[in-house]
Amino acid sequence: MIHAPDLEEVFPRIPLGTFPTPVTRLDLPGVAGDLWVKRDDRSGDEYGGNKVRKLEFLLAVARREGAGRVVTAGALGSHHALATTVYGHRLGFGVSLVLCPQKVTDEVRHVLKLEVDRGAEIRIVPRMELIPPALVLQRILRRRERPYVIPPGGSNAAGTLGYVRAALELLDQVDAGELPLPDTIHVACGTMGTAVGLAVGLSLRKVPTRVKAVRVVGTLVANERGLKRLARDTLQAMSGLAPTLPSVNEVLARLELRHDQVGPGYAKPTAHAREAMTRFGRAGLELDPTYTAKTAAGLLSSLEEGGKPSGAQLYWHTLSHGLPEALAGALPAEVPEGVRRVLEPGAERVDDR
Ligand SMILES: Cc1ncc(COP(=O)(O)O)c(C=O)c1O
Repeated sequence: MIHAPDLEEVFPRIPLGTFPTPVTRLDLPGVAGDLWVKRDDRSGDEYGGNKVRKLEFLLAVARREGAGRVVTAGALGSHHALATTVYGHRLGFGVSLVLCPQKVTDEVRHVLKLEVDRGAEIRIVPRMELIPPALVLQRILRRRERPYVIPPGGSNAAGTLGYVRAALELLDQVDAGELPLPDTIHVACGTMGTAVGLAVGLSLRKVPTRVKAVRVVGTLVANERGLKRLARDTLQAMSGLAPTLPSVNEVLARLELRHDQVGPGYAKPTAHAREAMTRFGRAGLELDPTYTAKTAAGLLSSLEEGGKPSGAQLYWHTLSHGLPEALAGALPAEVPEGVRRVLEPGAERVDDR
């Protein structure tokens, strides 16, 4: 039987987080059923959330390839960009970020300031479509540091292995009697690595658990073809782990991409998500409107679909948690004008997105 440490035989990993993350019962007032939560918001002492598991593998590949710098991309307030900065900086990598505009909120400013505090080199491009050429340019400009490029969201095969490992960790908790084997796992789906990794990990152990991946982004970012490609790449990266690995079809058979909770689009609130925030809040679990509240709304709607669910339901809590304090004082001189405009009081938006 394959266990979490076995993955390190075929792929390097640098421990960064605090694992296993706890599993607890989820008591939602007025909701019947056997509900559980996996607390990946507690995955890191400095900064938790679903990025830590991915970065353990991504930064290990960067180190193995002799990179002195990691380069990644996202929206202005991207927690993936921040997590890459926090953990990349901790391991001594230079960090370059290519960021595209989003509505500037206090949280976005805070995330950006934490990146500046850790010396990340930040370039803001006017539109999301300009991220790929900007990444290529960074790679060329920084070639002496052999930069390793991490895709937005950290969802290549290496990053996805973080969630293969997470599924194996969960199954070890099931074996230890901490929770029953879930019938279904409900998880947020953005760049797909979290959901695909879980489905691959469950397939390795051949348990019947299914994954409902709640799409919270546009179909350009998360779609069935993308799930298939990422499942195939991840399985390929694991070849050598066992004489027989599951097939891509076995992985996809347990993985459903749910399209019914995204509403008007990424980061646009929905009434169901607001209601889920209130109900989960009463049970002591803080949700964010962009990812986790829509996922929780998906779980609540599955409970209402077709009568009673057949078994234990697990909500995987991916929320980034525990933002460190930002440094006080003036911005360093090298901070570019675009970043300065966002961080200085009075900035509303970088564009109309
Ligand atoms: C809180 C939260 N949940 C889920 C996700 C999505 O994970 P993935 O990109 O692996 O689908 C993200 C991605 O940024 C996130 O911030």
